[in-house]
Amino acid sequence: AKHVGILALEVYFPDIYVSQEELEVHDKVTQGKYTVGLGQHCMAFCGDQEDVVSMSLTAVHSLLEKYDVDPKSIGRLEVGTESALDRSKSIKTFLMTLFAEHGNHDIEGVDSVNACYGGTAALFNAVNWVESRAWDSRLAIVVAADIAMYAAGPARPSGGCGAIAMLIGPDAPLDLERGLCASHMEHAYDFYKPCGFYPLVDGKSSVACYLMALDRCYASLCEKFERQRRRAKSGNASASSNGVPPSFSLADADFCVLHSPFVKMVRKAFARLVYQDHLRAKSRHQALQAERKLSLNRRSSSSSSSRSTPAQQPRPLLAERGPRAQTAADVLVEEEAVRAGAASLDAYPADPDAFPAESYSDRGLERAAMAASAEAFSRMVKPGLTAAAECGNMYAASVHAGLASLIEAEGAGLEGRRVLLYSYGSGLAASLWSLIGRRIEGKFALGSVAAKLDISGRLAGRRRARPEEFVATLELQERRHAEAGFRPERPLSDLRPGTYYLCEVDGLYRRTYSRK
Ligand code: ACO
Repeated sequence: AKHVGILALEVYFPDIYVSQEELEVHDKVTQGKYTVGLGQHCMAFCGDQEDVVSMSLTAVHSLLEKYDVDPKSIGRLEVGTESALDRSKSIKTFLMTLFAEHGNHDIEGVDSVNACYGGTAALFNAVNWVESRAWDSRLAIVVAADIAMYAAGPARPSGGCGAIAMLIGPDAPLDLERGLCASHMEHAYDFYKPCGFYPLVDGKSSVACYLMALDRCYASLCEKFERQRRRAKSGNASASSNGVPPSFSLADADFCVLHSPFVKMVRKAFARLVYQDHLRAKSRHQALQAERKLSLNRRSSSSSSSRSTPAQQPRPLLAERGPRAQTAADVLVEEEAVRAGAASLDAYPADPDAFPAESYSDRGLERAAMAASAEAFSRMVKPGLTAAAECGNMYAASVHAGLASLIEAEGAGLEGRRVLLYSYGSGLAASLWSLIGRRIEGKFALGSVAAKLDISGRLAGRRRARPEEFVATLELQERRHAEAGFRPERPLSDLRPGTYYLCEVDGLYRRTYSRK
Protein backbone atom coordinates (compact mmCIF):
# COMPACT_ATOMS: atom_id res chain seq x y z
CA ALA A 1 0.00 0.00 0.00
CA LYS A 2 1.28 3.47 -0.89
CA HIS A 3 0.81 6.88 0.76
CA VAL A 4 -0.64 5.32 3.91
CA GLY A 5 -1.98 7.89 6.32
CA ILE A 6 -5.07 9.72 7.53
CA LEU A 7 -7.98 9.69 5.08
CA ALA A 8 -10.41 11.62 7.27
CA LEU A 9 -10.96 12.58 10.88
CA GLU A 10 -13.74 13.60 13.22
CA VAL A 11 -13.45 15.45 16.53
CA TYR A 12 -15.93 15.33 19.38
CA PHE A 13 -15.99 17.65 22.39
CA PRO A 14 -18.84 18.17 24.85
CA ASP A 15 -21.34 20.96 24.39
CA ILE A 16 -20.52 22.69 27.70
CA TYR A 17 -17.45 24.63 28.77
CA VAL A 18 -16.17 26.93 31.46
CA SER A 19 -14.51 30.26 30.69
CA GLN A 20 -10.93 30.48 31.98
CA GLU A 21 -11.43 34.15 32.72
CA GLU A 22 -14.37 33.35 34.99
CA LEU A 23 -12.40 30.49 36.54
CA GLU A 24 -9.61 32.93 37.47
CA VAL A 25 -12.14 34.99 39.43
CA HIS A 26 -13.70 31.90 40.99
CA ASP A 27 -10.33 30.45 42.02
CA LYS A 28 -9.21 33.85 43.39
CA VAL A 29 -5.97 33.83 41.38
CA THR A 30 -4.51 36.96 39.79
CA GLN A 31 -6.20 38.10 36.61
CA GLY A 32 -4.48 36.63 33.55
CA LYS A 33 -2.98 33.58 35.30
CA TYR A 34 -4.96 31.06 33.24
CA THR A 35 -5.69 33.16 30.14
CA VAL A 36 -2.26 34.74 29.67
CA GLY A 37 -0.08 32.58 31.94
CA LEU A 38 -1.34 29.29 30.42
CA GLY A 39 -2.74 30.77 27.19
CA GLN A 40 -6.14 29.10 27.65
CA HIS A 41 -9.49 30.59 26.66
CA CYS A 42 -12.03 27.92 27.66
CA MET A 43 -12.13 24.40 29.05
CA ALA A 44 -14.49 21.64 27.87
CA PHE A 45 -15.89 19.31 30.52
CA CYS A 46 -18.60 16.70 30.69
CA GLY A 47 -21.22 15.54 33.17
CA ASP A 48 -21.80 12.02 34.47
CA GLN A 49 -23.96 11.22 31.43
CA GLU A 50 -20.78 11.07 29.34
CA ASP A 51 -17.51 9.18 29.73
CA VAL A 52 -14.56 8.20 27.57
CA VAL A 53 -16.54 5.33 26.00
CA SER A 54 -19.56 7.46 25.07
CA MET A 55 -17.29 10.16 23.59
CA SER A 56 -15.43 7.54 21.55
CA LEU A 57 -18.72 6.03 20.33
CA THR A 58 -19.89 9.50 19.25
CA ALA A 59 -16.68 10.23 17.35
CA VAL A 60 -16.57 6.86 15.55
CA HIS A 61 -20.29 6.83 14.67
CA SER A 62 -20.05 10.36 13.33
CA LEU A 63 -16.93 9.53 11.28
CA LEU A 64 -18.66 6.51 9.69
CA GLU A 65 -21.78 8.55 9.00
CA LYS A 66 -20.13 11.69 7.61
CA TYR A 67 -17.92 9.75 5.20
CA ASP A 68 -20.44 7.03 4.42
CA VAL A 69 -17.99 4.31 5.49
CA ASP A 70 -19.33 0.76 5.51
CA PRO A 71 -18.61 -0.72 8.98
CA LYS A 72 -17.78 -4.00 7.22
CA SER A 73 -14.89 -2.27 5.44
CA ILE A 74 -12.99 -1.78 8.74
CA GLY A 75 -10.32 -4.38 9.60
CA ARG A 76 -8.52 -2.68 12.49
CA LEU A 77 -9.68 -0.49 15.35
CA GLU A 78 -7.19 0.99 17.80
CA VAL A 79 -7.82 3.21 20.81
CA GLY A 80 -5.34 5.48 22.60
CA THR A 81 -6.41 6.71 26.03
CA GLU A 82 -5.39 7.19 29.64
CA SER A 83 -8.99 7.38 30.87
CA ALA A 84 -9.74 3.64 30.81
CA LEU A 85 -12.76 2.65 32.91
CA ASP A 86 -11.60 -0.89 33.49
CA ARG A 87 -8.20 -2.42 34.12
CA SER A 88 -9.05 -5.40 31.88
CA LYS A 89 -11.77 -4.56 29.37
CA SER A 90 -10.59 -2.28 26.56
CA ILE A 91 -12.55 0.69 25.23
CA LYS A 92 -12.14 -0.86 21.79
CA THR A 93 -14.44 -3.70 22.84
CA PHE A 94 -17.23 -1.21 23.67
CA LEU A 95 -16.78 0.32 20.20
CA MET A 96 -17.26 -3.12 18.64
CA THR A 97 -21.02 -2.67 19.12
CA LEU A 98 -20.93 -0.27 16.13
CA PHE A 99 -19.44 -3.00 13.92
CA ALA A 100 -20.95 -6.15 15.39
CA GLU A 101 -24.46 -4.96 14.47
CA HIS A 102 -23.27 -5.05 10.84
CA GLY A 103 -21.89 -8.56 11.26
CA ASN A 104 -18.24 -7.46 11.47
CA HIS A 105 -16.44 -9.06 14.41
CA ASP A 106 -13.15 -9.56 12.55
CA ILE A 107 -11.37 -6.40 13.66
CA GLU A 108 -7.86 -6.41 15.13
CA GLY A 109 -6.42 -4.00 17.66
CA VAL A 110 -7.06 -3.04 21.30
CA ASP A 111 -6.10 -0.07 23.50
CA SER A 112 -2.71 1.66 23.83
CA VAL A 113 -1.91 3.42 27.10
CA ASN A 114 0.78 5.89 28.09
CA ALA A 115 -0.53 9.26 29.28
CA CYS A 116 -1.08 11.56 26.28
CA TYR A 117 0.92 9.33 23.91
CA GLY A 118 -1.60 6.50 23.44
CA GLY A 119 -3.31 8.07 20.41
CA THR A 120 -0.06 8.32 18.50
CA ALA A 121 0.95 4.76 19.44
CA ALA A 122 -2.45 3.62 18.13
CA LEU A 123 -1.97 5.62 14.92
CA PHE A 124 1.46 4.12 14.29
CA ASN A 125 0.04 0.61 14.89
CA ALA A 126 -2.73 1.19 12.35
CA VAL A 127 -0.42 2.66 9.70
CA ASN A 128 2.08 -0.18 10.22
CA TRP A 129 -0.74 -2.71 9.74
CA VAL A 130 -1.85 -1.15 6.43
CA GLU A 131 1.77 -1.16 5.25
CA SER A 132 2.41 -4.74 6.38
CA ARG A 133 1.97 -8.20 4.89
CA ALA A 134 -0.90 -8.74 7.37
CA TRP A 135 -3.04 -6.11 5.63
CA ASP A 136 -6.21 -7.45 3.98
CA SER A 137 -7.23 -4.31 2.00
CA ARG A 138 -9.63 -3.03 4.63
CA LEU A 139 -9.34 0.34 6.37
CA ALA A 140 -8.40 1.07 9.99
CA ILE A 141 -9.90 3.43 12.53
CA VAL A 142 -7.85 5.06 15.29
CA VAL A 143 -9.58 6.64 18.27
CA ALA A 144 -7.87 8.95 20.75
CA ALA A 145 -10.04 10.02 23.67
CA ASP A 146 -9.56 11.36 27.17
CA ILE A 147 -11.06 13.33 30.02
CA ALA A 148 -8.41 15.46 31.73
CA MET A 149 -9.37 16.43 35.28
CA TYR A 150 -7.08 17.70 38.03
CA ALA A 151 -7.53 18.23 41.75
CA ALA A 152 -8.14 21.83 42.82
CA GLY A 153 -4.90 23.79 42.47
CA PRO A 154 -2.59 25.09 39.75
CA ALA A 155 -3.07 22.09 37.42
CA ARG A 156 -6.89 22.27 37.37
CA PRO A 157 -7.13 24.96 34.63
CA SER A 158 -5.03 22.73 32.36
CA GLY A 159 -7.82 20.13 32.14
CA GLY A 160 -10.14 19.49 29.21
CA CYS A 161 -11.65 16.61 27.25
CA GLY A 162 -12.49 15.29 23.80
CA ALA A 163 -12.29 12.38 21.40
CA ILE A 164 -11.06 12.03 17.86
CA ALA A 165 -11.60 9.26 15.33
CA MET A 166 -9.28 8.92 12.33
CA LEU A 167 -9.80 6.79 9.25
CA ILE A 168 -6.53 5.21 8.10
CA GLY A 169 -5.75 3.77 4.70
CA PRO A 170 -3.73 4.02 1.49
CA ASP A 171 -3.74 6.93 -0.97
CA ALA A 172 -4.38 9.29 1.93
CA PRO A 173 -4.44 13.08 1.72
CA LEU A 174 -2.25 13.12 4.85
CA ASP A 175 0.62 10.77 4.14
CA LEU A 176 2.80 9.68 7.06
CA GLU A 177 6.37 10.38 6.00
CA ARG A 178 7.94 7.05 6.92
CA GLY A 179 11.55 7.30 8.02
CA LEU A 180 11.01 10.82 9.29
CA CYS A 181 9.95 9.95 12.82
CA ALA A 182 12.04 10.19 15.94
CA SER A 183 11.13 9.00 19.42
CA HIS A 184 12.45 9.55 22.90
CA MET A 185 11.32 7.28 25.72
CA GLU A 186 12.53 6.95 29.28
CA HIS A 187 11.39 6.41 32.85
CA ALA A 188 10.10 9.49 34.71
CA TYR A 189 7.53 10.24 37.42
CA ASP A 190 6.35 13.62 36.10
CA PHE A 191 2.65 12.66 35.89
CA TYR A 192 1.05 9.34 36.76
CA LYS A 193 -2.13 7.73 38.06
CA PRO A 194 -1.28 5.08 40.66
CA CYS A 195 -4.62 5.29 42.47
CA GLY A 196 -7.56 7.56 43.14
CA PHE A 197 -9.47 9.79 40.78
CA TYR A 198 -6.99 12.56 39.95
CA PRO A 199 -3.45 12.16 38.59
CA LEU A 200 -0.38 12.83 40.69
CA VAL A 201 1.54 15.52 38.84
CA ASP A 202 4.83 17.31 39.30
CA GLY A 203 3.89 20.21 37.03
CA LYS A 204 7.28 21.89 36.68
CA SER A 205 9.03 18.59 36.11
CA SER A 206 6.45 17.60 33.46
CA VAL A 207 7.12 20.84 31.57
CA ALA A 208 10.88 20.21 31.65
CA CYS A 209 10.39 16.55 30.60
CA TYR A 210 8.19 17.68 27.68
CA LEU A 211 10.90 20.10 26.48
CA MET A 212 13.78 17.70 27.05
CA ALA A 213 12.02 14.94 25.07
CA LEU A 214 11.28 17.45 22.30
CA ASP A 215 14.96 18.42 22.14
CA ARG A 216 15.94 14.77 21.85
CA CYS A 217 13.32 13.98 19.23
CA TYR A 218 14.22 17.02 17.14
CA ALA A 219 17.96 16.28 17.22
CA SER A 220 17.27 12.69 16.19
CA LEU A 221 14.77 13.68 13.46
CA CYS A 222 17.27 16.15 11.97
CA GLU A 223 19.91 13.45 11.98
CA LYS A 224 17.59 10.96 10.25
CA PHE A 225 16.60 13.52 7.64
CA GLU A 226 20.22 14.41 6.96
CA ARG A 227 21.19 10.74 6.68
CA GLN A 228 18.39 10.22 4.15
CA ARG A 229 19.49 13.25 2.14
CA ARG A 230 23.11 12.11 2.15
CA ARG A 231 22.06 8.68 0.95
CA ALA A 232 19.84 10.19 -1.77
CA LYS A 233 22.65 12.48 -2.86
CA SER A 234 25.40 9.88 -2.94
CA GLY A 235 26.27 9.35 -6.56
CA ASN A 236 25.49 12.98 -7.28
CA ALA A 237 28.80 14.69 -8.02
CA SER A 238 27.71 18.11 -6.76
CA ALA A 239 26.86 16.64 -3.37
CA SER A 240 30.38 15.55 -2.71
CA SER A 241 31.70 19.01 -3.54
CA ASN A 242 30.79 20.14 -0.06
CA GLY A 243 31.86 18.19 3.01
CA VAL A 244 29.06 19.64 5.15
CA PRO A 245 25.92 17.47 4.85
CA PRO A 246 22.51 18.92 3.92
CA SER A 247 20.63 19.78 7.09
CA PHE A 248 17.08 19.93 8.41
CA SER A 249 15.54 23.01 10.01
CA LEU A 250 12.05 24.36 10.65
CA ALA A 251 12.29 25.95 7.22
CA ASP A 252 11.83 22.43 5.82
CA ALA A 253 8.38 22.22 7.42
CA ASP A 254 5.30 24.35 6.78
CA PHE A 255 3.32 23.73 9.97
CA CYS A 256 3.94 22.35 13.45
CA VAL A 257 1.32 20.71 15.65
CA LEU A 258 2.64 20.08 19.14
CA HIS A 259 0.87 18.26 21.97
CA SER A 260 -0.97 20.98 23.87
CA PRO A 261 -1.48 20.55 27.63
CA PHE A 262 -2.03 24.32 27.49
CA VAL A 263 -1.22 26.79 24.73
CA LYS A 264 1.69 28.45 26.57
CA MET A 265 3.44 25.07 26.62
CA VAL A 266 3.22 24.90 22.83
CA ARG A 267 4.56 28.44 22.59
CA LYS A 268 7.55 27.50 24.77
CA ALA A 269 8.10 24.29 22.81
CA PHE A 270 8.14 26.00 19.44
CA ALA A 271 10.58 28.61 20.78
CA ARG A 272 12.76 25.70 21.89
CA LEU A 273 12.80 24.31 18.34
CA VAL A 274 13.88 27.71 17.02
CA TYR A 275 16.65 27.76 19.64
CA GLN A 276 17.77 24.33 18.46
CA ASP A 277 17.79 25.52 14.85
CA HIS A 278 19.93 28.42 15.94
CA LEU A 279 22.44 26.12 17.66
CA ARG A 280 22.55 23.84 14.66
CA ALA A 281 22.89 26.76 12.24
CA LYS A 282 25.80 28.12 14.22
CA SER A 283 27.66 24.85 14.33
CA ARG A 284 26.92 24.27 10.65
CA HIS A 285 28.13 27.74 9.78
CA GLN A 286 31.34 27.05 11.64
CA ALA A 287 31.72 23.75 9.78
CA LEU A 288 31.11 25.48 6.44
CA GLN A 289 33.68 28.14 7.24
CA ALA A 290 36.20 25.48 8.17
CA GLU A 291 35.38 23.61 4.99
CA ARG A 292 35.84 26.75 2.87
CA LYS A 293 39.15 27.52 4.55
CA LEU A 294 40.30 24.01 3.85
CA SER A 295 39.32 24.19 0.19
CA LEU A 296 40.99 27.62 -0.19
CA ASN A 297 44.18 26.19 1.30
CA ARG A 298 43.94 23.24 -1.07
CA ARG A 299 43.46 25.56 -4.07
CA SER A 300 46.34 27.86 -3.19
CA SER A 301 48.64 24.89 -2.65
CA SER A 302 47.57 23.32 -5.94
CA SER A 303 49.11 25.47 -8.68
CA SER A 304 47.83 23.21 -11.46
CA SER A 305 44.14 23.69 -10.60
CA SER A 306 42.32 26.91 -11.49
CA ARG A 307 38.80 25.61 -10.87
CA SER A 308 36.65 27.62 -8.52
CA THR A 309 34.69 26.00 -5.69
CA PRO A 310 31.40 24.77 -7.13
CA ALA A 311 28.46 26.95 -6.15
CA GLN A 312 26.25 25.73 -3.30
CA GLN A 313 23.36 23.73 -4.70
CA PRO A 314 19.91 24.71 -3.44
CA ARG A 315 18.52 21.87 -1.39
CA PRO A 316 16.07 19.74 -3.37
CA LEU A 317 12.48 20.04 -2.28
CA LEU A 318 10.28 17.08 -1.49
CA ALA A 319 8.62 15.91 -4.66
CA GLU A 320 5.23 16.88 -3.30
CA ARG A 321 6.03 20.15 -1.61
CA GLY A 322 4.13 23.13 -2.89
CA PRO A 323 5.11 26.68 -3.73
CA ARG A 324 5.25 27.80 -0.09
CA ALA A 325 8.12 25.42 0.59
CA GLN A 326 11.34 27.30 1.30
CA THR A 327 14.24 27.01 -1.08
CA ALA A 328 16.64 27.43 1.79
CA ALA A 329 20.29 27.88 0.85
CA ASP A 330 22.83 25.52 2.31
CA VAL A 331 24.36 28.25 4.40
CA LEU A 332 21.91 27.85 7.22
CA VAL A 333 22.83 31.04 9.02
CA GLU A 334 20.77 32.77 6.36
CA GLU A 335 17.77 30.66 7.20
CA GLU A 336 14.61 31.88 8.76
CA ALA A 337 15.18 30.83 12.33
CA VAL A 338 18.30 32.90 12.45
CA ARG A 339 17.10 35.74 10.23
CA ALA A 340 14.04 36.11 12.48
CA GLY A 341 16.15 37.90 14.99
CA ALA A 342 17.77 35.05 16.82
CA ALA A 343 20.84 37.24 17.26
CA SER A 344 19.79 37.62 20.88
CA LEU A 345 20.19 33.86 21.22
CA ASP A 346 23.89 34.28 20.62
CA ALA A 347 24.35 34.90 24.32
CA TYR A 348 23.35 31.30 25.01
CA PRO A 349 25.33 28.07 24.81
CA ALA A 350 26.12 26.93 21.30
CA ASP A 351 26.75 23.27 21.90
CA PRO A 352 23.97 21.41 20.11
CA ASP A 353 24.92 18.07 21.67
CA ALA A 354 24.69 19.22 25.25
CA PHE A 355 21.26 20.60 26.10
CA PRO A 356 21.93 21.76 29.62
CA ALA A 357 19.16 20.97 32.09
CA GLU A 358 19.29 24.55 33.40
CA SER A 359 18.34 25.84 29.96
CA TYR A 360 14.78 24.55 30.53
CA SER A 361 14.24 27.09 33.27
CA ASP A 362 16.44 29.88 31.88
CA ARG A 363 14.04 32.84 31.64
CA GLY A 364 16.42 34.94 29.54
CA LEU A 365 16.88 32.20 26.98
CA GLU A 366 13.13 31.57 26.88
CA ARG A 367 12.40 35.27 26.27
CA ALA A 368 15.03 35.47 23.52
CA ALA A 369 13.73 32.30 21.84
CA MET A 370 10.11 33.53 22.13
CA ALA A 371 11.08 36.80 20.42
CA ALA A 372 13.02 35.01 17.71
CA SER A 373 10.14 32.63 16.99
CA ALA A 374 7.17 35.04 17.14
CA GLU A 375 6.55 35.41 13.41
CA ALA A 376 7.08 31.73 12.60
CA PHE A 377 4.81 30.75 15.52
CA SER A 378 1.91 32.77 14.10
CA ARG A 379 2.39 31.28 10.65
CA MET A 380 3.29 27.66 11.46
CA VAL A 381 1.66 26.84 14.79
CA LYS A 382 -1.27 29.14 15.55
CA PRO A 383 -3.63 27.74 12.88
CA GLY A 384 -3.61 24.39 14.73
CA LEU A 385 -4.41 25.76 18.18
CA THR A 386 -8.17 26.38 18.03
CA ALA A 387 -9.31 23.17 19.74
CA ALA A 388 -6.50 23.41 22.32
CA ALA A 389 -7.32 26.97 23.37
CA GLU A 390 -11.08 26.36 23.43
CA CYS A 391 -11.32 22.83 24.87
CA GLY A 392 -8.11 22.46 26.90
CA ASN A 393 -6.00 19.33 27.17
CA MET A 394 -7.59 16.33 25.45
CA TYR A 395 -4.58 14.24 26.58
CA ALA A 396 -4.25 11.41 24.00
CA ALA A 397 -6.40 13.32 21.50
CA SER A 398 -4.64 16.66 21.94
CA VAL A 399 -2.15 16.52 19.06
CA HIS A 400 -4.69 14.97 16.68
CA ALA A 401 -7.30 17.59 17.58
CA GLY A 402 -4.56 20.12 16.78
CA LEU A 403 -4.17 18.50 13.37
CA ALA A 404 -7.94 18.70 12.87
CA SER A 405 -7.86 22.42 13.75
CA LEU A 406 -5.06 22.93 11.23
CA ILE A 407 -7.02 21.09 8.54
CA GLU A 408 -10.09 23.20 9.24
CA ALA A 409 -7.99 26.38 9.01
CA GLU A 410 -5.96 25.48 5.91
CA GLY A 411 -8.03 22.90 3.99
CA ALA A 412 -6.62 22.30 0.50
CA GLY A 413 -3.83 24.72 1.43
CA LEU A 414 -2.12 21.77 3.13
CA GLU A 415 -1.57 20.05 -0.20
CA GLY A 416 2.16 19.78 -0.82
CA ARG A 417 2.95 20.95 2.72
CA ARG A 418 4.89 19.20 5.45
CA VAL A 419 3.35 19.15 8.95
CA LEU A 420 5.59 18.25 11.90
CA LEU A 421 3.73 16.71 14.84
CA TYR A 422 4.95 16.16 18.39
CA SER A 423 3.29 13.74 20.80
CA TYR A 424 4.31 13.76 24.43
CA GLY A 425 3.02 11.36 27.07
CA SER A 426 4.31 11.68 30.61
CA GLY A 427 6.14 8.81 32.15
CA LEU A 428 7.53 9.25 29.38
CA ALA A 429 7.02 8.51 25.69
CA ALA A 430 7.44 11.07 22.92
CA SER A 431 7.62 11.11 19.11
CA LEU A 432 8.18 13.79 16.52
CA TRP A 433 6.84 12.79 13.14
CA SER A 434 5.81 14.19 9.83
CA LEU A 435 2.81 14.23 7.50
CA ILE A 436 2.76 15.40 3.90
CA GLY A 437 -0.48 16.86 2.52
CA ARG A 438 -1.48 15.38 -0.87
CA ARG A 439 -3.97 16.42 -3.49
CA ILE A 440 -6.56 13.71 -4.03
CA GLU A 441 -10.08 13.76 -5.48
CA GLY A 442 -13.35 12.86 -3.80
CA LYS A 443 -14.68 12.83 -0.25
CA PHE A 444 -11.22 12.53 1.32
CA ALA A 445 -9.84 15.62 -0.44
CA LEU A 446 -8.42 17.96 2.21
CA GLY A 447 -10.86 20.73 1.28
CA SER A 448 -13.85 18.50 1.80
CA VAL A 449 -12.48 17.01 5.06
CA ALA A 450 -11.99 20.59 6.30
CA ALA A 451 -15.57 21.51 5.43
CA LYS A 452 -16.96 18.49 7.30
CA LEU A 453 -15.03 19.14 10.54
CA ASP A 454 -17.08 22.17 11.62
CA ILE A 455 -15.01 22.67 14.79
CA SER A 456 -15.53 26.44 14.90
CA GLY A 457 -19.28 26.14 14.33
CA ARG A 458 -19.66 23.61 17.15
CA LEU A 459 -17.46 25.65 19.48
CA ALA A 460 -19.66 28.67 18.89
CA GLY A 461 -22.80 26.66 19.71
CA ARG A 462 -21.66 25.48 23.15
CA ARG A 463 -23.25 26.44 26.47
CA ARG A 464 -21.08 28.36 28.90
CA ALA A 465 -21.36 26.91 32.40
CA ARG A 466 -20.58 28.89 35.54
CA PRO A 467 -17.39 27.86 37.39
CA GLU A 468 -19.61 26.65 40.29
CA GLU A 469 -21.28 24.18 37.91
CA PHE A 470 -17.88 23.06 36.61
CA VAL A 471 -16.59 22.41 40.15
CA ALA A 472 -19.83 20.64 41.18
CA THR A 473 -19.54 18.44 38.08
CA LEU A 474 -15.97 17.45 38.93
CA GLU A 475 -17.15 16.55 42.45
CA LEU A 476 -19.95 14.47 40.94
CA GLN A 477 -17.48 12.68 38.61
CA GLU A 478 -15.20 12.04 41.56
CA ARG A 479 -18.11 10.43 43.47
CA ARG A 480 -19.09 8.37 40.41
CA HIS A 481 -15.56 7.07 40.01
CA ALA A 482 -15.58 3.40 40.91
CA GLU A 483 -19.31 3.58 41.88
CA ALA A 484 -21.75 0.83 40.83
CA GLY A 485 -25.53 0.83 40.53
CA PHE A 486 -26.45 4.33 39.38
CA ARG A 487 -28.12 6.24 36.59
CA PRO A 488 -26.49 9.55 35.58
CA GLU A 489 -28.17 12.62 37.00
CA ARG A 490 -26.98 15.24 34.49
CA PRO A 491 -29.56 16.12 31.78
CA LEU A 492 -29.52 14.92 28.19
CA SER A 493 -30.36 18.49 27.16
CA ASP A 494 -26.61 19.19 27.49
CA LEU A 495 -25.96 16.84 24.54
CA ARG A 496 -26.28 17.55 20.84
CA PRO A 497 -28.39 15.14 18.76
CA GLY A 498 -26.29 12.17 17.69
CA THR A 499 -24.28 12.12 20.95
CA TYR A 500 -23.87 8.86 22.83
CA TYR A 501 -24.55 8.87 26.56
CA LEU A 502 -24.24 6.58 29.53
CA CYS A 503 -27.64 5.08 30.44
CA GLU A 504 -26.68 3.11 33.51
CA VAL A 505 -23.93 1.47 35.51
CA ASP A 506 -25.50 -1.62 37.03
CA GLY A 507 -24.66 -3.29 40.32
CA LEU A 508 -21.89 -5.29 38.60
CA TYR A 509 -20.28 -2.15 37.12
CA ARG A 510 -21.59 -2.97 33.63
CA ARG A 511 -22.16 0.13 31.52
CA THR A 512 -24.83 0.58 28.88
CA TYR A 513 -25.00 3.37 26.31
CA SER A 514 -27.53 4.90 23.96
CA ARG A 515 -27.50 7.58 21.25
CA LYS A 516 -29.52 10.79 21.53
N1 ACO B 1 -0.85 37.04 34.36
C1 ACO B 1 -0.09 36.52 33.39
N2 ACO B 1 0.72 35.43 33.56
C2 ACO B 1 0.74 34.87 34.77
C3 ACO B 1 -0.02 35.38 35.84
C4 ACO B 1 -0.85 36.50 35.60
N3 ACO B 1 -1.61 37.02 36.55
N4 ACO B 1 0.21 34.60 36.93
C5 ACO B 1 1.10 33.66 36.53
N5 ACO B 1 1.42 33.82 35.25
C6 ACO B 1 2.30 33.01 34.43
C7 ACO B 1 3.61 32.67 35.10
O1 ACO B 1 4.53 33.71 34.96
C8 ACO B 1 3.99 31.44 34.32
O2 ACO B 1 4.50 31.83 33.08
P1 ACO B 1 5.79 31.12 32.47
O3 ACO B 1 5.43 29.67 32.28
O4 ACO B 1 6.04 31.83 31.22
O5 ACO B 1 6.83 31.25 33.51
C9 ACO B 1 2.66 30.72 34.04
O6 ACO B 1 1.67 31.74 34.25
C10 ACO B 1 2.37 29.54 34.95
O7 ACO B 1 2.40 30.00 36.28
P2 ACO B 1 3.31 29.29 37.37
O8 ACO B 1 3.05 29.96 38.66
O9 ACO B 1 4.72 29.19 36.89
O10 ACO B 1 2.82 27.79 37.38
P3 ACO B 1 1.51 27.20 38.02
O11 ACO B 1 1.71 26.94 39.45
O12 ACO B 1 0.32 28.00 37.63
O13 ACO B 1 1.43 25.77 37.28
C11 ACO B 1 1.54 24.18 35.54
C12 ACO B 1 1.47 25.65 35.87
C13 ACO B 1 2.78 23.57 36.18
C14 ACO B 1 1.64 23.99 34.06
C15 ACO B 1 0.27 23.49 36.09
O14 ACO B 1 -0.86 24.02 35.44
C16 ACO B 1 0.27 21.99 35.92
O15 ACO B 1 0.83 21.27 36.74
N6 ACO B 1 -0.43 21.45 34.86
C17 ACO B 1 -0.52 20.02 34.61
C18 ACO B 1 0.76 19.42 34.09
C19 ACO B 1 1.00 19.72 32.62
O16 ACO B 1 0.13 20.08 31.89
N7 ACO B 1 2.27 19.50 32.18
C20 ACO B 1 2.64 19.69 30.80
C21 ACO B 1 3.22 18.46 30.11
S1 ACO B 1 2.56 16.95 30.69
C22 ACO B 1 0.92 16.83 30.14
O17 ACO B 1 0.63 17.02 29.01
C23 ACO B 1 -0.10 16.50 31.14
